[in-house]
Amino acid sequence: MAYLEIKNLSKSFHGNQVLDHIDIEVEKGAFLSLLGPSGCGKTTTMRIVAGFERQDEGTISIDGKVIDRLPAYKRNVGMVFQSYALFPHMTVAQNVAYGLEQRKMSRSDIRKEVAKALEMVRLTGYENRKPKQLSGGQQQRVALARALVIKPSLLLLDESLSALDKNLRTAMQIELRMIQKEVGITTVFVTHDQEEAMTLSDRIAVMKEGKIVQIGSPQEIYEKPVNTFVAGFIGHSNFLKGTVLEKSGDKAVFQLDSGGKLVVPVEPSDSRVQNGKPLILSIRPERIRLTQDDFANTGVKGTIKFITYVGSLSTYLVEVMGHELKVQQQNDADARAFRQGDEVCLHWSAENQTILTE
Ligand SMILES: Nc1ncnc2c1ncn2[C@@H]1O[C@H](COP(=O)(O)OP(=O)(O)OP(=O)(O)O)[C@@H](O)[C@H]1O
Ligand SMILES: [Mg+2]
Repeated sequence: MAYLEIKNLSKSFHGNQVLDHIDIEVEKGAFLSLLGPSGCGKTTTMRIVAGFERQDEGTISIDGKVIDRLPAYKRNVGMVFQSYALFPHMTVAQNVAYGLEQRKMSRSDIRKEVAKALEMVRLTGYENRKPKQLSGGQQQRVALARALVIKPSLLLLDESLSALDKNLRTAMQIELRMIQKEVGITTVFVTHDQEEAMTLSDRIAVMKEGKIVQIGSPQEIYEKPVNTFVAGFIGHSNFLKGTVLEKSGDKAVFQLDSGGKLVVPVEPSDSRVQNGKPLILSIRPERIRLTQDDFANTGVKGTIKFITYVGSLSTYLVEVMGHELKVQQQNDADARAFRQGDEVCLHWSAENQTILTE
């Protein structure tokens, strides 16, 4: 049984369904990210788990115990909110001590626990500062210490790093993951940044309009997206929409909806590829290889329309029958650089192509 189990969770506000029968499971000590566009219901899910909002339907349990009827303060859940909301008039130490005081812990124990929590987030020596005397990253760490000091059974982090600039954010991502592993605390992290979710998570739950679209490891989500929404949300993907005209062996003639035919690679045993069947082919930019000569006559022909050079990588926009496909190439020592207007061939293998139906 998973440590956190969210089963069949639904919620409406004023007749507007915000969560639509959500199921999420998180193993003990694991780090799960909820990823999805603005308004898809991430914060609402977290608020219900923390007990600040009541679900219309569904059950939440932690470590096998149903917590639906427990008020927030009895759930032992630590939450860092979207705006991390430190108490501005209190010092760092007082902010961190707050939850322990509410739990009526003795003064000497509070002092010890606060010191430990601040050491964990590397803020020893900052006890007497006020939040406004701290950088964004430091405030973030105070909020994290405040959530961890009560030794919660579950840690909920809502867009906790979004306010930080890029460098600090990357540093905090690493620290957060180190602290999370050190404490071994089961964590649910909300973000709408796919790269952040990939970096931090054991598993990612992709949400859209109040539903979980896919849940899996970062690799599963990236390599085996279930639909074009996931494929386009996690990284970039090229989509070719059309119908299989004729499959023969490891090739198929593919009629694009927008007009034109392509010969594309297919797995001979793939039962989804059948004559007459409409499909969407999804191909990642870095999985396409460009060549100038088509010796084996197996490539798809195109013309380079635009090039973005970023040192180690070049991104090419290649026009193929009225479609612009994005192709990314490593600029290795022996890599060939192409120029705008070059006629090229695009090659990819069946295993680097995902077949989707929606
Ligand atoms: N208390 C409320 N009353 C009415 N509608 C609400 C309430 N809280 C949230 N909503 C609505 O529910 C939907 C989901 O909101 P939620 O805050 O969960 O989104 P989110 O995924 O966290 O988005 P973001 O990435 O912008 O933070 C939104 O359409 C929002 O307007
Ligand atoms: Mg939110």
